[in-house]
Amino acid sequence: MNVEKHVEALREQIRYHNYRYYVLDDPQIPDAEYDRLLRELQELEEEHPELITPASPTQRVGDKPLDGFAEVHHEIPMLSLDNAFDDEELAEFDRRVRERLEIDVVEYAAEPKLDGLAISLLYENGILRRGATRGDGSSGEDVTQNVRTIQSIPLHLIGTDFPERLEVRGEVIMPHEGFRLLNERQVAEGNKPFVNPRNAAAGSLRQLDPKVTAQRPLEMFCYGVGLVENGELPDRHSAILERLRDWGLRVYRGIATVRGLNGCIDYYKRMQQARDALPFDIDGVVFKVDRIDQQQALGFVARAPRWAIARKFPAQEELTTVLDIDVQVGRTGALTPVARLEPVFVGGVTVTNATLHNEDEIRRKDVHIGDTVIVRRAGDVIPEVVSVVKERRPKDARPFVMPSRCPVCGSDIERMEGEAVARCTGGLFCEAQRKEAIKHFASRRAMDIEGLGDKLVEQLVDEGLVNDVADLYHLDIETLYGLERMGIKSTENLVAALEASKQTTLERFLFALGIREVGEVTARALARTFGASSAKGLSDHDRAQADIDRLAKATQEELEAIPDIGPVVAGHIAHFFGQAHNRDVIKKLLDAGVTWPLQEAAAAQPLQGKTYVLTGTLEKLKRNDAKARLQALGAKVASSVSAKTSAVIAGKKPGSKLAKAKRLNVPVLSEKEFIKLLEQEEQKI
Ligand code: IVH
Repeated sequence: MNVEKHVEALREQIRYHNYRYYVLDDPQIPDAEYDRLLRELQELEEEHPELITPASPTQRVGDKPLDGFAEVHHEIPMLSLDNAFDDEELAEFDRRVRERLEIDVVEYAAEPKLDGLAISLLYENGILRRGATRGDGSSGEDVTQNVRTIQSIPLHLIGTDFPERLEVRGEVIMPHEGFRLLNERQVAEGNKPFVNPRNAAAGSLRQLDPKVTAQRPLEMFCYGVGLVENGELPDRHSAILERLRDWGLRVYRGIATVRGLNGCIDYYKRMQQARDALPFDIDGVVFKVDRIDQQQALGFVARAPRWAIARKFPAQEELTTVLDIDVQVGRTGALTPVARLEPVFVGGVTVTNATLHNEDEIRRKDVHIGDTVIVRRAGDVIPEVVSVVKERRPKDARPFVMPSRCPVCGSDIERMEGEAVARCTGGLFCEAQRKEAIKHFASRRAMDIEGLGDKLVEQLVDEGLVNDVADLYHLDIETLYGLERMGIKSTENLVAALEASKQTTLERFLFALGIREVGEVTARALARTFGASSAKGLSDHDRAQADIDRLAKATQEELEAIPDIGPVVAGHIAHFFGQAHNRDVIKKLLDAGVTWPLQEAAAAQPLQGKTYVLTGTLEKLKRNDAKARLQALGAKVASSVSAKTSAVIAGKKPGSKLAKAKRLNVPVLSEKEFIKLLEQEEQKI
């Protein structure tokens, strides 16, 4: 293809994707792919400047506003930012700035790059007069009514020293928790869920009916100013942001001023680490020359300032193809379809598999074998297929068919009414379920058998050395030594770990058995109820067996009387102990020496019946510890606030849950008050 044709083809694609993104709020490809197209075009145009036309997407990013909103002309254009995709490009930027300013070290304001949509707010005499989207940068849409529904946007500024006319700019975002709840609602109501929080934010802000927007969990952070009339602002960007905060506008707390390239790189690393813990998406960090006089000296190029750059994080979404769809069998027989992918680098690692969750999910997303899909990997979470690029579906793409028999053991597959999951009915006859059950039994929070990793479990089952969890305790040095990766040291360690694991607690033991829907909390409640209280004269072994017998004989009613156990879980427990082979395995375990100390009389649960919600970052306590301590006191920890919530515990940077608590008159505790409560109640047990 000649260059001219190539350039035109790229423009054509970019225009189309612009339209999908800006006009329809329904992007078809991930940002990283879009960035690559744009870069390719920019590079070609740099090599062949004679091909540049005013209508090229490099000259005008964005597209026409939707019908229905009034158009707003931005007196000062809303520019975008140049990107740096690695430290070298960042160094280039810093070098250019230093050379132009003829200085050795530049001071930068460093901010997160929030992944939402840009917004302009016009305040006149401190009163919010107009909110507008960025649109194509020179004109956007009037979304004043919608903006007014966002709690974090003040309708009046605080104080008196603000300019007569002040245009504040920032980003409207949707935090993760709100996004999750919104999508749950979308699906429940039969609507299409949003692809990611940014699209949800954009879609929500551009609703013609402000009542709809008002129900969407939107938030705003400010990152700069546009128009300023009749008033003075500080002479540094960082100080301007502080001033905005004084006037009641929301500015991200973690903004810093850093010195030179090294300062920038440090900040980038810090934010990269903090990223997964943030309650909203950021896709990089932004560095801005802090001194306004230096910004003015640097000026602008076509669509971006010379004084700022966005250092982007590695993309969390990428395109790849589905080579095949396999079915994995889990511990409880649940069948999970897994997409085998053309390897793709996303979220900092190479991904070859992505979960498709269940059959309904595949239908909903309409994934075929052979499809081009968007995969997402954020933080430590399992990579998932976000959506299909239908336009790229090849002719020979095949739909997925759920097998009617278990791919591992050939047993029938059943899918209960109302359940999304299909299950293999093979139980422990199914080798896949057996392996998973053994892995779970050995895991850290269960029997904690160090050195018994997944690969070894698979080997032991494949070689017929272990058929059930009780067989683990018959493994000896002779059997283990010489297995793959089992040298003398690791063999000895494993045998010692097996021995040590025999001294456990009833709660861990019950959790380790892998009874359906019996997690740690339920196991603890069961242990409290069925732990021996009358054990006089019994050996450790017999007392342990007596505990189990009492639990095995418990009626549905007795089980349901335990906090947290409803009819379904009670049914699972009764079913488990009703199976002779399960009782046999337990007997074998106890005969092999597994035991637990005498359970103290059921401990008091001073916070029983109470429900707490945690929001924001706790500084002294880890979130998991806070949760465990509340649960140990008998309280429930919920993820969303309702009128029944006993109290909300608000750490630093609390999310929308705090606002909701206030709205519902639910008491709010600071971390300090919360720790005091824990200590006070823990005295009672
Ligand atoms: S400054 C003149 N700061 O990124 C500079 N933008 O690619 C204009 N964004 O449209 C933008 N976080 O929507 C700036 N801390 C931040 C930002 C930020 C996110 C967005 C903004 C803008 C786009 C530029």
